[in-house]
Parts: sequence; structure tokens; C-alpha cells
Amino acid sequence: MGEIPLASARPAAVDDASILDRPPDPAPPNRPRYKKVLLTASPKGGSGKTTFVKNVAVIAAHNGLSVAVIDFDRQKTLSKWWARRPETMPRIEHYEAPLNGAHEIGELDDYDLLVIDTPPGIEDHPAEMLALLQVADLIIVPTRPGWDDRESVIPFMRYLRDRHAKAAFLLNATQKGTKLLDEARRSLLAVGPLCPIDIRQFIDITTTSPLGLGVIEVRGASGGDDFVSVWHFIRNELGL
Ligand SMILES: Nc1ncnc2c1ncn2[C@@H]1O[C@H](COP(=O)(O)OP(=O)(O)OP(=O)(O)O)[C@@H](O)[C@H]1O
Ligand SMILES: [Mg+2]
Repeated sequence: MGEIPLASARPAAVDDASILDRPPDPAPPNRPRYKKVLLTASPKGGSGKTTFVKNVAVIAAHNGLSVAVIDFDRQKTLSKWWARRPETMPRIEHYEAPLNGAHEIGELDDYDLLVIDTPPGIEDHPAEMLALLQVADLIIVPTRPGWDDRESVIPFMRYLRDRHAKAAFLLNATQKGTKLLDEARRSLLAVGPLCPIDIRQFIDITTTSPLGLGVIEVRGASGGDDFVSVWHFIRNELGL
């Protein structure tokens, strides 16, 4: 695999699929290479995995943490967003790799927080999924509130819990006060932990993406409060 393109090699980063290979690291052995690993995964496409990674990484970086994101999705939505990120914003390091590079995560540099994005249908790759479970401190399973969405993520949460993974659902793209949201909360809570704050549906969450920004970085954009509260939940769960 090739060199990891960090911020100094932004244009190459999007196309280079061999990111996890680095020169030998001078860090002393036994030193933790990263403090916490946050993984997002879901069988369902379009549930909000990449949106979650972008916005949580941005908030953590604004909180002064050293943050890196890893894009395991061949669609490279996260990588393309990162490549558009303005230099003036708090720095987020970036890696991308094919899913079979998951076992190499331990070779990365030292960060306070690694946030990992995965492709939909990851349950079809059990070996890679297990490699990720071994390094993840917390797995967030975003889901839209619809019945079909829940039908997909509920068995996935059972799979995670059977493997003693620390995981929580996150309801995304919700509409406050609807019967559907109430029903979704109840059915998810019957199966596993649920982040107490959900991310509401806001157009700003989509429109900040072409700018390489998170919603908290755009004055007046809606959705920032939701992500900040989700970050507080995650920070406490991770003990950061
Ligand atoms: N809370 C939200 N409000 C409005 N739009 C949202 C919200 N969450 C996600 N979206 C939009 O929905 C689309 C899918 O979101 P996203 O790319 O984060 O899903 P994903 O789970 O990463 O998808 P994939 O499985 O294809 O990787 C994007 O266009 C995103 O901007
Ligand atoms: Mg995605």
C-alpha cells in the first residue's frame, strides 16, 4: 500500500485507495496509539453514517481534540468532503482504505479520537466487521425512524450485542413530535441502547457538505445543537 496522504496531499487523498500503509512510526512501543475509536456502521444505506462522522469529527476538533477520520467506503463520500474542507477550519486528519485494510488500524498515528466510516451492508463482510469490532470503543448505528430502516438495524444491533460490542442506536433525520418517532424510539430501546438525542431532518445538514464543513461551522445553520448533544453523549460513553 502507498503513503498516507494527509492534509499536505489533499488532492491525491480522494483517489488513493491505499492509505493505511505508513513508514515506521517512531512512537515508543506500548504507548497507546489512539485514545478512543468511534465506529459507525449500519446495514442500511443512506442512514446517516457519513453525516454522523463528519459532524462529530468537526465538533471534537473544535473541542481541541486531535481527530482523524477513516473512510472505508468505496463511494468515498467522506473523503471527498474532507478534500473540500477549508484550511482555516480546525484540522482533521484523514485516511482511506479498502475494507480489508481494517486490521491495519492499529498502525495509525496517535490521536485522541479516530472516527470510522463504513459502507452499507458491512454485515456481508464478517471478517472485516470483526476486525473493526476489536478496535472500536463505541459503535453508533444511525437509523432513520421508518419501519424498513428499523427492520434492518435491529438484527444488526443483536449481532453487535451478541459479540459484546458497546453500541448504541442514533435516530437520524427525524421529525419532532411524530407518532413514527415515538414508535421508533420504543422499538429500538427494546433491543439496545439509544442515544437520548436524535438528529432532526434539516436541509442545512445536506447543504454544508459541499463546503467541507460541519453544521456547527456555518452561522445560523440548523442541526448543530443536535450534533453537539449527540457529541456530549458520545464523549461521556467514551470517557473522553
Ligand atoms: N438529519 C439529516 N437531515 C437532512 N439530511 C440528512 C440528514 N442525515 C443525512 N442526510 C442526507 O441524507 C443523505 C444520506 O446521508 P449519509 O451520506 O450520511 O448516509 P450514509 O449512511 O453514509 O449513506 P451510505 O450508506 O450510502 O454510505 C445525504 O444526502 C445526507 O446529506
Ligand atoms: Mg456513507
